[in-house]
Amino acid sequence: MLDPIFEISDLSVWYGDYQAVRDVTLQIGRRQITALIGPSGCGKSTVLRCFNRMNDLIPGARVDGKILFDGEDLYADYVDPIEVRRRIGMVFQKPNPFPKSIYDNVAYGPRVNGMKGNLDDIVEKALTGAALWDEVKDKLKHNALALSGGQQQRLCIARAIAVKPEVILMDEPCSALDPLATSKIEDLMQTLAGEYTTIIVTHNMQQAARVSDRTAFFTAEVDEQGVRHGRLVEYDNTSRIFSTPADKRTEDYISGRFG
Ligand SMILES: Nc1ncnc2c1ncn2[C@@H]1O[C@H](COP(=O)(O)OP(=O)(O)O)[C@@H](O)[C@H]1O
Ligand SMILES: [Mg+2]
Repeated sequence: MLDPIFEISDLSVWYGDYQAVRDVTLQIGRRQITALIGPSGCGKSTVLRCFNRMNDLIPGARVDGKILFDGEDLYADYVDPIEVRRRIGMVFQKPNPFPKSIYDNVAYGPRVNGMKGNLDDIVEKALTGAALWDEVKDKLKHNALALSGGQQQRLCIARAIAVKPEVILMDEPCSALDPLATSKIEDLMQTLAGEYTTIIVTHNMQQAARVSDRTAFFTAEVDEQGVRHGRLVEYDNTSRIFSTPADKRTEDYISGRFG
């Protein structure tokens, strides 16, 4: 049985009068890794941004339907989106450290949030959690931009976990990285899985198969007017999606016949 941390029903997302995502219903398991896969433009990033109200920041974007986070309406008037983004962190495709020291990158969120505790300890713990401590412990004052791409991405993960989120959203976190850096991030995701809920958008089906517990397959469906809308096709245990999918479209996609 799934212990849901998110319960999404009839989610639609509009950019102006374009409905990019239509009627998505699914539940995300607590402390599981959930992968969102599907061809480019099917709405994966759009759906991911709904989980921490990042679409609020996009002019013209509108979210319809319901998302419960821990049983509470994430879009209720009284909910503070800033606090939501502390509890639900995000890691992007391109590593985006601040042009500051390694230390200050990780300390940034705890400082802004006025977190209690010794800042040095918080920074060390987050860097250790992101499997980066040993590589940077002697150069914490160095500029983060001098790190390799893979190290920068682990730093961004450290920055995300430093504020003790419950959920980490990752939008194609490895697509700018080489295979070795990618495998380090994948290992890290599995290590973090015991503690955090992770939702990852990935283009890489092997990656989804390797790291995730459950997989949601999206596609872009063309309506009568010829307009494309992102739809959820199938959602199941990852092993099942990649071995015996129920929907022909999923099977075609995972076997590389389209997308
Ligand atoms: N900020 C935006 N403004 C307008 N349209 C957008 C915006 N972001 C995404 N879209 C459109 O919404 C659809 C889904 O995009 P996206 O969620 O980025 O798909 P994916 O991540 O699966 O590639 C696409 O047609 C895309 O062009
Ligand atoms: Mg995307």
